[in-house]
Amino acid sequence: MNTKIDILDTKNLDKDVIFTIGNIIRDGGLVAFPTETVYGLGANALDSEAVKKIFVAKGRPQDNPLIVHIAEFNELDRLVQNVPDIAKKLMKCFWPGPMTLILEKKPIIPDTTSAGLKSIGIRMPSDIIAREIIKSSGVPIAAPSANISGKPSPTDMERCVEDLNGKIDYIIGGETSKVGLESTIIDCTVNPPCVLRPGGITLEMLKKVDEKIYIDKAIMEKPKENLKPKAPGMKYRHYAPKAPVKIVKGELKKTIAKINEIVQNYIGQGKKVGIMATDETKDLYNDALVISLGSRKDLNSIGKNLFETLRCFDDKEVDIILSEAFDEIGFGVAIMNRLNKSAGFNIIDV
Ligand code: TXA
Ligand code: MG
Repeated sequence: MNTKIDILDTKNLDKDVIFTIGNIIRDGGLVAFPTETVYGLGANALDSEAVKKIFVAKGRPQDNPLIVHIAEFNELDRLVQNVPDIAKKLMKCFWPGPMTLILEKKPIIPDTTSAGLKSIGIRMPSDIIAREIIKSSGVPIAAPSANISGKPSPTDMERCVEDLNGKIDYIIGGETSKVGLESTIIDCTVNPPCVLRPGGITLEMLKKVDEKIYIDKAIMEKPKENLKPKAPGMKYRHYAPKAPVKIVKGELKKTIAKINEIVQNYIGQGKKVGIMATDETKDLYNDALVISLGSRKDLNSIGKNLFETLRCFDDKEVDIILSEAFDEIGFGVAIMNRLNKSAGFNIIDV
């Protein structure tokens, strides 16, 4: 398949391209487009055949439900029912933005989109291109991250091209995703609501709306055999670059010493090592390819750069990636959730 590629200027959106994309989606095609979290691979959420093509293009397991994206509040009513008051409050506070709510679905949403579940994840993105594409299509858009299943999610157009060129109808480039990690998922079919995936809307922010909201403990731990996760997608190997990732966790000085010690072991075996460091530590490592995620004082930059940095290490063909850890507060919870998964919970405590 010939994939068309266009880059849009967010300050002066090309209306013709948006119109074309809207038609492609409505008619059952697949389009990768920017959102503020990560780039998404979109199809008409109400068209079962179109949604099936998403699973094929990504190589995604069929039991992993998709998130449905809307642009206006009045679209909700035809998609979901029995929306609890707390969900309405959360929407008012955090939509448009990086938050997905799991709600009871109406029959109009095909089983292919919800992977057979009675509930569905709904999100209203804030990215201007995403919003205009949804409006132009006139339909809700089912969109997982626009990567091959298992790989780190793409935060720019080039990574979508790398994974999906030749497999989908169109790839739209816009800004680099501002958040860099996927949306916070909150299950609102239970009371109190429960966070199934941490993201840019942090627990601290959610607790200001309802202090009973909590994070499902299981998501920060290594998945237990036989345990069925509440978000089906959380059980799969995820965010994984080709090289194995090891996290070194503890006091920063000890972390640096331990990472340098491990590097020397690998160098002795003729291996090429990548280190995910921070602005504060990047000059303290030797004999490895060091990339800083950003300053420890700015967790937003760490989250924004995490997936792209993992993919960079793949480009450089390192044999092993060593990463520093981050405190699990605020956005740090989402960062550590993705990092733990990319490392398969391979953590060295110092
Ligand atoms: O930020 C995002 O949410 C991005 C952008 C493109 O909007 N999308 C995204 O989609 O991350 P995806 O497919 O990569 O992740 C969707 C996650 C999966 O872990 C899935 O299991 C969970 O949402 N999920 C979807 N519907 C669900 C449901 N009804 N109940 C529980 N979990 C659900
Ligand atoms: Mg994904």
